[in-house]
Amino acid sequence: MRRLRIAIQKKGRLAEKSIALLIKSGLDFDFHKDRLIYECQDFPIDLMLVRDDDIPEYVADGVCELGIAGENVVLEKGSAVDISTRLGFGTCRLSLAFPAQTPFPGLEFLESKRIATSYPNILKKFLRERGLSSTVVELQGSVEIAPALQIADAVFDLVSTGGTMRSNDLREVHTVLESQAVLIRTRKMIPSEIEIDLQRLLQRIVGVLRASQSKYIMMNAPRSALKSVQEILPGMEEPSILPLSGGSDRIAIHAVARETIFWDTIERLKAVGASSILVLPIEKVIA
Ligand code: PRP
Ligand code: ZN
Repeated sequence: MRRLRIAIQKKGRLAEKSIALLIKSGLDFDFHKDRLIYECQDFPIDLMLVRDDDIPEYVADGVCELGIAGENVVLEKGSAVDISTRLGFGTCRLSLAFPAQTPFPGLEFLESKRIATSYPNILKKFLRERGLSSTVVELQGSVEIAPALQIADAVFDLVSTGGTMRSNDLREVHTVLESQAVLIRTRKMIPSEIEIDLQRLLQRIVGVLRASQSKYIMMNAPRSALKSVQEILPGMEEPSILPLSGGSDRIAIHAVARETIFWDTIERLKAVGASSILVLPIEKVIA
C-alpha cells in the first residue's frame, strides 16, 4: 500500500535543517545509502530527496503529499500547493542590487534597465505592480556576475548572508520578498488513511516548532514585582506562583515564555528584583 510521502531538498541550504526537523518530530531514517527514497522505520512515511526547484511540482502533482521548500521557490514556480506552516529556518530574501558605485535614486531608476535573475516570475510581477518596464534577463545561475559581464545593469537574486553580493561588489537597493522554509501540502485528493498519518505528522511538527520558540523560565521575585515581570515577558502564559519557605514576601514564578528570552530581558528582570533566574529549553509543546 502507498504510504505518506514527503519531498525535501537533497543538498543545499535547507537540506540539513529539514532532516533535523523530521528527526525531532520522531522520524528515524537509515541514511547510509545514496538513494532517492528512504523508508521511515517508526512512522508510515517515505522521504524523497530531490532538487529544491523540483519540490513544488512533486507536491502539486501529488507524487508527494508534503514537501519542505523555500517560500521563494514555491512562489516562483506558482505551483498549486498549500502552505501548511512556515518553519522558521532558511530565512533569506530576494533583493534587487546594483554595482556598488552606481547611484540609486529610487525604484523609478529601474525603468528601462536590464535585470538578471533566476526568479523571472516574482520579478515580473513586482515590476508590473510598480508600472516599471525593465528588461528581465533570465539566467539559471551565477546571476551575480551579470553586471560585470555587461549583460545586465542590475540583479534580482537570493540573499542569505550577503556574502555573494559583497564579493561581487553589488549593493542591495530593495528587498522584494522575505522568505523562509515552508511546509507545503498537495491540493490533490489524499486517501483518508494517508490523511490520518499526515495530520499526525503535522501535529508533531507544530509541537516541535512551538517548543523551539518557547522556553521555561523560573525565578524568585518579590510578590510586588509580579506585574512588572509579566510586562517584561509578554509571551508568558499564566504563571505558576509558589510561596517561598521562610515566610518572606518573595515568591517563585514558573512559566512558559512564548517569545525569545534575550540577555536584555534577563537584565530587566533582575532590575525589578528577580533572582535565581533559570531559563530551560522545552522539548515538546502539546496544546
Ligand atoms: C543563492 C544565490 C546566491 C547565494 C546567496 O544561490 O543565487 O548565489 O545563494 O547567498 P549568500 O547571501 O549567503 O552569499 P544558491 O546557492 O541557493 O543556489 P540556487 O539558487 O541555484 O539553488
Ligand atoms: Zn536551486
